[in-house]
Amino acid sequence: QSDVGTDLEKILLSEEDIGKKLDEMAAKIDEDYAGRDLLLVGVLKGAVMVMADLSRRLHHPITMDWMAVSSYGSGTKSSGVVRILKDLDSDLSGRNVLIVEDIIDSGLTLSWLVSNLKSRGPASVEIAAMLRKPDAAQTDVTVKYLGHDIPNEFVVGYGLDYAENYRNLPFVATLAPHVYGG
Ligand code: PRP
Ligand code: MN
Ligand code: MG
Repeated sequence: QSDVGTDLEKILLSEEDIGKKLDEMAAKIDEDYAGRDLLLVGVLKGAVMVMADLSRRLHHPITMDWMAVSSYGSGTKSSGVVRILKDLDSDLSGRNVLIVEDIIDSGLTLSWLVSNLKSRGPASVEIAAMLRKPDAAQTDVTVKYLGHDIPNEFVVGYGLDYAENYRNLPFVATLAPHVYGG
């Protein structure tokens, strides 16, 4: 059983910080996609909060779809080898696709996903991500809409989990080392 009271170390982004960034991201997306079709693709499960909150701020009409992917390999690290657990229901041909993610850590998941989706004949593929860890990057990923850069620490909340816990926190916090045996 996780205990939010003792498991968290410090809050990196408050609910208010997140809300402000979402407002800015949504305004840019509305502007950039004016007059164009837009399909938001959320990456389960981490992206659920960003998807819900960002999409509600858009005035632009959108459709929404979801993918579930899993990195092979052990533990908490992405291996870069990605398996599709749930594919999109939508045909991407001619669509403007905006991938919605909670975090870019190593970048391996998104770099694989972008090339996978580009191979399906879309008009465009871009990325919106709430968080990025520049110091953890193992590959270059071009993010068009970014919330915040954060330090390379173990963070949870706002969709991000540790062993499936803490996703429902409305803020982003660092995890206390005792939780992950640090
Ligand atoms: C997390 C996060 C991103 C990905 C980022 O997902 O939600 O999707 O890792 O890591 P990367 O940049 O190093 O590839 P995870 O695979 O933990 O699945 P989840 O969204 O279900 O938690
Ligand atoms: Mn994820
Ligand atoms: Mg996870």
